[in-house]
Order: sequence, then structure tokens, then C-alpha cells
Amino acid sequence: MSAAPTDAAGITTPGQRSPDNRATRRAVGRITRKLTRAKVIAVANQKGGSGKTTTILALAGELARRGFRVLVIDCDEQGNATIGLGVAVAEQDTEGTYYLLMDDEAKPAAVIAPTPHDNISVIAGGPKLSEVAAALASEMGNHAFLSTHVDALRGEFDVILLDTPPALSLLTINALYAADEITTPINPGVFDLRGIAELTKTVKRINSRLNKAIAIAHVFLINFNPRRRNDQDAYRFVKEAFPDALIDTADPQPDREWHGSGVPQSASVNSSQSAGIPLTLYEARAAVSRAYCRVTDVIEQRSLRG
Ligand SMILES: Nc1ncnc2c1ncn2[C@@H]1O[C@H](COP(=O)(O)OP(=O)(O)OP(=O)(O)O)[C@@H](O)[C@H]1O
Ligand SMILES: [Mg+2]
Repeated sequence: MSAAPTDAAGITTPGQRSPDNRATRRAVGRITRKLTRAKVIAVANQKGGSGKTTTILALAGELARRGFRVLVIDCDEQGNATIGLGVAVAEQDTEGTYYLLMDDEAKPAAVIAPTPHDNISVIAGGPKLSEVAAALASEMGNHAFLSTHVDALRGEFDVILLDTPPALSLLTINALYAADEITTPINPGVFDLRGIAELTKTVKRINSRLNKAIAIAHVFLINFNPRRRNDQDAYRFVKEAFPDALIDTADPQPDREWHGSGVPQSASVNSSQSAGIPLTLYEARAAVSRAYCRVTDVIEQRSLRG
């Protein structure tokens, strides 16, 4: 599998900018081993379009810039994380995450692809992943196929990020079972907030039925506007539901009433994705990137140190 040109999504976005070269240059020469065993983080929310892939790309870019060796495993048939890293999706039986899950003899090293970005590798997602759930339905231990491979890769990377599809499917269960913890971006819509209860229920089932200790460790709001009444209510709802996991992307200001914080909406998200460059490398100084840097700060502090 080869790295595709940076317009891998095949879209030319008006006003598309080149990556922040200063950020990219800073990453060069900082390729150092940080952890002896990789931390595995699944980004999950069964609601479609809830910012999972955007979060994967932003985290991958910023962690890589900080010198962590990052592997993204794309568990989604849409292959958006793969495309967003500037790599072609997996189409063949012997490629990507599909191969890892479907072939008993699969060797992860054979499907790890480099990306055009320092410190970031990917195991590609792609359309064949739509066949996995039916094919593995009657297989013994079918929740643990991914975790076996992920565990074998822990010595090679510092952070392994698992992008999941918009469903609580067998692929998502495999990702959650393989992970150490879950990160969940949440849109401030009413259906999005209701949907989180389903994810929480699934996590509890994995805890009890599969005897696997995993939790939603980090949540944050996306497309957040502190001036919108609905978003303020959403912030309070999420704060009450996840008091320890909620990440604030900005500090309260003493002279202002605090309505919460979250990742803002920005056109840079789409432009970076069509350019195949992680947001935080594409436009490091944009407010949306700074918010994701703050998310990365907290995840680094809580999960990647000590
Ligand atoms: N902060 C943001 N500002 C503007 N657009 C955003 C933001 N976050 C995400 N988007 C856009 O919203 C859409 C959905 O985001 P994304 O693909 O990350 O969600 P997802 O949860 O991975 O979706 P799916 O469930 O289909 O995998 C994309 O078009 C993305 O570019
Ligand atoms: Mg996605």
C-alpha cells in the first residue's frame, strides 16, 4: 500500500492552505521513544458524524509533533482516518484492518503503512470491513481478534489510536476490547446527548460480560459555541454525566460568566481532511487546533505520563 497524494480525498477545497511548516519542522528530529508499552485509545461514539475521525487525526498530528510514535488503526469501512492521513484506503483481502481481522495468520507488520507525516503510521480501513461482522459472527472469541494484534504492537509504538465506525458493531466491540481507554467527542445536539447512554451501556457490558476493565476516560464537546444556550445546557449535562472525564478546552475567565468550553466549529477541519494533513499540523494556530492541543495536553497528562 502506498501513500496517496495529499489530495487523497479527491476534493479541491477553495482556499486550501499548505501545512503549517513551522509545526512540521518542529516535529523533525524529535522522533524519540517515549513509552515502553503503547497506550491504546479507542475514539468511540456510535452516533455518526460526532467528530471521531476528526479527533483521531488531530490527536495523531499533535502527539506525533510532540515526539510520540503514533499508530492509527482505522476500523471503519469509510476509511476516513486513512484518507485524512493522506493514505489510500484498503481495497484488497490482504490489506489493512480487514486482513488483520480475517486472516488467522495475519502479521500486523505487513499492513502497517507509513504516512507522509513524521511519527504517524496507519493500518488502513476500507470498504471490505463491511463484511467482517457477518463473517465473524459465529467465530469463537470474535470480540478479541483485534486485541491480539494490538497487544503484539505495543512494543513498537507509544500511542495506538483506534478509529471506530458509527455503530456499536462487532468492529467497535473489537476496538473497545483492544483499548485501554475510550475518548468520546460529543456534539451538543439532543440526539447526540441521548446516544451517549448507549455507549455507556455497552462499556458496562464489556466490563461485566468480557471481564475487561475499560472506561470512557476523556470526553469533550465539539462544534461548541459558548454563546449558544443549547450548547451551555449540553455542557452542564455532560459535566454532570462525566464529571472527571470532561475536558475543558479553555479556562474560565474571572471577569466572565462561565458557560463551559469545547472544540469550536471551523472550516479548517474540512480543509485539512481534504488535504490529507492532520488538522493540528495543517493549521496549528487556528482556534480549533489550539482546542485540540488542549485535549492532547489533558490526555498526555492523564494517560501517557507515569
Ligand atoms: N470542529 C469541527 N468544525 C467543523 N467541522 C467539523 C468539526 N468536527 C468535525 N467536523 C466535520 O463534521 C463531519 C463529521 O466529522 P467526523 O468525520 O470526524 O465524524 P465521525 O464521528 O468520524 O463520523 P462517522 O461516524 O461517519 O465516522 C466531517 O465532515 C468533519 O469535517
Ligand atoms: Mg469517522
